[in-house]
Amino acid sequence: MVNILVLGGTDEARRLAAALAGRVGTHVVSSLAGRVRDPKLPVGEVHEGGFGGPGGLQAWIGERRIDVVVDATHPFAARMTASAVEATGRAGVPLLILRRPGWQAAPGDDWRWVPSLAAAAELLPALGERVFLTTGRRSLPVFAGLDGLWFLARSVDPPEPPAPRRLEVLLSRGPFTVRGELALMRHYRVDMLVTKDSGGEMTTAKLLAARDLGLPVVIVRRPPHPGGVPSAGTVEEALTWLEGTVGHVR
Ligand SMILES: NC(=O)c1ccc[n+]([C@@H]2O[C@H](COP(=O)([O-])OP(=O)(O)OC[C@H]3O[C@@H](n4cnc5c(N)ncnc54)[C@H](OP(=O)(O)O)[C@@H]3O)[C@@H](O)[C@H]2O)c1
Repeated sequence: MVNILVLGGTDEARRLAAALAGRVGTHVVSSLAGRVRDPKLPVGEVHEGGFGGPGGLQAWIGERRIDVVVDATHPFAARMTASAVEATGRAGVPLLILRRPGWQAAPGDDWRWVPSLAAAAELLPALGERVFLTTGRRSLPVFAGLDGLWFLARSVDPPEPPAPRRLEVLLSRGPFTVRGELALMRHYRVDMLVTKDSGGEMTTAKLLAARDLGLPVVIVRRPPHPGGVPSAGTVEEALTWLEGTVGHVR
């Protein structure tokens, strides 16, 4: 039996777990940070909650006799990725990073790349007054204090303070449609969109709607990919890598 740990919290992680679930000779456990109140669960065994840093993950890999780890976390879950690199290195088990490609601007887009959420906050007052914020509920403290701006913040769970003073929260989970995003942006008369470069299909509609409306998009660059670790851009590529690696660890 080959034991595979999938570090999850993304659509790709759920699809990978589903693809591996029925395979003979393979046991998959998916892990979630445990932050979302009602998460979309992957099929199969699920571990909820952190491991306690790289040392905790290394111990967990040993106890559960994990043979291979796939880090399929969100591209901005940099701490978990760093922890996975360190723990698998110490435990001597192979690691694959499954990351969907980032978004690419196309003609008609007005994208302003920034290195961090803090840099995004600095840029906003120059772009207008009404902000559509889609960077996650835990990013709101960065925008608190921008009292001259009004924010529409969309998140899966409600944000906690500190948050901008002039704020409307929209609790919602993707995928979204271009039509829906256009209607939403028009209804709230937003002047700009703020997003992380999450990539993937589930949330591209907002970018297409912003292009249609001629709105600037402030887009936060991804944290750097750790060097020397194999990576896959799609679930299919991850499965191909696993087939080679699982053959090797058996
Ligand atoms: N960051 C985003 O924008 C974003 C967006 C969508 C979904 N997500 C998902 O939400 C989760 C948390 O993201 P984050 O940005 O808060 O992560 P993070 O800052 O990189 O991780 C913080 C800590 O949370 C725990 N953790 C994170 N992901 C985990 C996982 N898949 N399984 C078990 N423990 C995990 C780890 O705790 P220990 O050190 O105790 O092991 C990690 O050190 C991830 O699963 C990610 O895929 C994140």
